[in-house]
Amino acid sequence: MRTLTGLRPTGQLHLGNWLGAVRPMVAMAGEGETFLMVADVHALNEGMAPDVLRQNVIETVRLYLACGIDPQKTVLYRQSDLPNAEFATYLMPFMGVGQLERSHAFKDMLANGKEANAGLFTYPVLMAADILLYDTDEVPVGPDQAQHVEYARDIAERVNHRLGNVLKVPNSILQPDVPQLPGLDGRKMSKSYGNGIMLTDDEATVKSKVAKLVTDSRSPEEAKDPQATVSLYMRLFAPEQYEGYLAGGMGYGAAKQLVAQGISAELTELQQRYAQVTEAQVHQVLQEGAARAWPVAEAVLNRFKRAVGLLT
Ligand code: TRP
Repeated sequence: MRTLTGLRPTGQLHLGNWLGAVRPMVAMAGEGETFLMVADVHALNEGMAPDVLRQNVIETVRLYLACGIDPQKTVLYRQSDLPNAEFATYLMPFMGVGQLERSHAFKDMLANGKEANAGLFTYPVLMAADILLYDTDEVPVGPDQAQHVEYARDIAERVNHRLGNVLKVPNSILQPDVPQLPGLDGRKMSKSYGNGIMLTDDEATVKSKVAKLVTDSRSPEEAKDPQATVSLYMRLFAPEQYEGYLAGGMGYGAAKQLVAQGISAELTELQQRYAQVTEAQVHQVLQEGAARAWPVAEAVLNRFKRAVGLLT
């Protein structure tokens, strides 16, 4: 059983990434094989500056290691060290323009007035290549990425329909018991909205950010809405006081204090580990990860190339 996921090299991770993606990955490592990929080729589509990209890849790996990813258990590698982009080219004919136009991410981009380059437009095909090149069984994703895994399944099924049983059809696993953690303003937590709590935020920063969590006008005595942003944070970061808070009798100010303490308590250990990871270690981990991922990719790539007529 192989589980695979990827994260964009943003150089930072926020609590939402951690709860939704990285922590489940840590928990899963050891049960079967886990592959974790730093998606640096995807970053090109966003026009990331060369030095920023290089730095972000290193920072992102440092963060994964600090989060408890054990490179012995998890194959941690960089997308561009493997033939993912080459494979994506071969998969292009198995994806329709119409389906790409219906992608939520693409429609959001247009709705936000952004101009899409061809890389962003075809991004689901590269992501499908990321997944299918490793005979992936399962892809743990947040709800925002579920459609992309569906696209990967579609591509695999089309390939298999035309060429025989060539590619493994992956499943996505949504993290059922992790409520989507909204950002401070109640919208989705996203680096681009600037509404996230970063894993490297110190205690004072966490405190001032949590103070900004959106609230409604309920009085301290009133029962609280479990779907309110503060409630979602309380449930995760102050579970002991959560029921009492919901029932009423606690104000938002007091709740936010508990939330800030809970978050900082979780982050302290992680930040200590983060400070200890060196750049040399990161390079070594990536090199070893690529060496372990390579034979898997090569086998699938050759299987596909034979099936499609590129190899005899
Ligand atoms: N698209 C994912 C994101 O934006 C990152 C990603 C790239 C990914 N390739 C992947 C996730 C393959 C899962 C599997 O977060």
